[in-house]
Amino acid sequence: MASELPDLRPLADYIRRTFAPEDDVLRDLARDAESSGLPDIAVGPEVGKLLQVLARAIDARRILEIGTLGGYSAIWMARALPRDGKLITLEISPEHAIFARRWIERAGLKRRVEVKLGDARELLPPLRRQKPFDMAFIDADKESYPWYLEWCLKLVRPGGIIAADNALATSEWTVSVADLHPADPAVRAVKEFNRMMAGSKLLTSVVIPVREGLAVAVVSK
Ligand code: SAH
Ligand code: DHB
Ligand code: MG
Repeated sequence: MASELPDLRPLADYIRRTFAPEDDVLRDLARDAESSGLPDIAVGPEVGKLLQVLARAIDARRILEIGTLGGYSAIWMARALPRDGKLITLEISPEHAIFARRWIERAGLKRRVEVKLGDARELLPPLRRQKPFDMAFIDADKESYPWYLEWCLKLVRPGGIIAADNALATSEWTVSVADLHPADPAVRAVKEFNRMMAGSKLLTSVVIPVREGLAVAVVSK
């Protein structure tokens, strides 16, 4: 029997209110990002909280993020770290990096979070010297997702987690992975990334259909 699909937005609001309320820092950061003209593409509170849960589940002490923007997701994840934990986040835009550093300091996380300015495609290989990471979160340019996954497999320890935003779509939902023959190179790359994640013998993975889709994989021990 066909039935109407429920409108999930009230439930998303309920999850936010109940499990993922933003504190003043996150709320003010989001407001400042909007008035400063940063693109409106940060993860939402429910994804931030989910990343926090994943980090806690594996007792993460060292986290790698690819794509900082204003530091919103970095702050959610860094709050799951112990005091001597470390989150390294990579950002190609100097404006975004400066904005993020300011808010990370306001969040009291300056010692735990390092924003590295540059192209992740150049910054990742030297991070071999700082491995292993317990968790990686991929959220930068979609065309590079397959390449980022290969590097995360080198940098994240067995038993660690690799997660990625936009596994189903970008924020506008104008194009999605449901398209069988997408012309958009970003969607093609994300579909290639999802196939790699799903097919890798080194990973146990799934996409959680929250917001634009969060791919989550555990690295085999
Ligand atoms: N994770 C952030 C949102 C990231 S948006 C949050 O949820 O708060 C994507 C970011 O990736 C943008 O700031 C963009 O400048 C950055 N980016 C794009 N290509 C990149 C690259 N090659 N290397 C590093 N950062 C990149
Ligand atoms: C875009 C990037 C993102 O990381 C996202 O969550 C939504 C949109 C983009 O580049 O359009
Ligand atoms: Mg994203």
